Amino acid sequence: MPTSVDLEETTPPPAPDDGSFCATPRNNEVHRSIRLRLRMETASQHSALEARLPVLDPDLAVDVYQNLIARFWGFYRPLEQRLLTVAPRLLRSCEYASRFKTPLLVRDLECFGRLPGTLSQCRGLPELASLPKVLGCLYVIEGSTLGGQVISRYLKIYLGLTRESGAAFFTGYGASSARRWRAFGGFLTDTADALDCDELIVSGAVQTFDAFNNWLAPT
Ligand code: HEM
Repeated sequence: MPTSVDLEETTPPPAPDDGSFCATPRNNEVHRSIRLRLRMETASQHSALEARLPVLDPDLAVDVYQNLIARFWGFYRPLEQRLLTVAPRLLRSCEYASRFKTPLLVRDLECFGRLPGTLSQCRGLPELASLPKVLGCLYVIEGSTLGGQVISRYLKIYLGLTRESGAAFFTGYGASSARRWRAFGGFLTDTADALDCDELIVSGAVQTFDAFNNWLAPT
């Protein structure tokens, strides 16, 4: 993981006065660590998402699971494409090429004989209008690998699924998960310090959780 953070994007970031970057200096007295803030200020959304996902249900049926993977693909695919478009350098800085989730979801879909091309994709993505918001979004995406470690164990017990047979997405980095989360956490903290714009980072995470919750909500 590179220690220096490359914040310069192909498209110049918005000017400080357009609301996309913080215009006010950070107040150190009330400043809490960005990681703590993210966890606390998205906790209710994380709980809502957990409640919505039946992945720990002992009665989980394989067709319900397949539909869920299809839904995840419909969110991650356009989201990761947008991330690549709006923040290619930031993604390179956190070695996102080795973190992409869409290929894992494609692999799972293929195990079930599902063709990604036939599935619908989310149109209500988070706006990701600035680098801090992109960073908040990356926090949500990378954080989901932690839950994946719990979920993949249940998928193996209840459905007999492994990385090779339909649980590649939730297995994620497997035994390397804690190490990779720590590495991402370091990147997040360093980049947040450089951007000095915690409010927008948190708002990017909140919007990402919102968009995902809406996408998974029954229609
Ligand atoms: C039933 C589904 C899920 C379960 C059971 C679950 C469970 C967990 C667990 C056990 C952790 C680790 C908490 C810790 O070590 O302190 C975690 C962290 C996290 N999860 Fe989930 N998760 C689920 C779904 C998701 C999804 C779908 C997302 C996002 C797309 C997500 C985002 C996060 C984030 C961002 C964190 C990091 C929290 C932090 O800042 O430490 N989770 N989750």
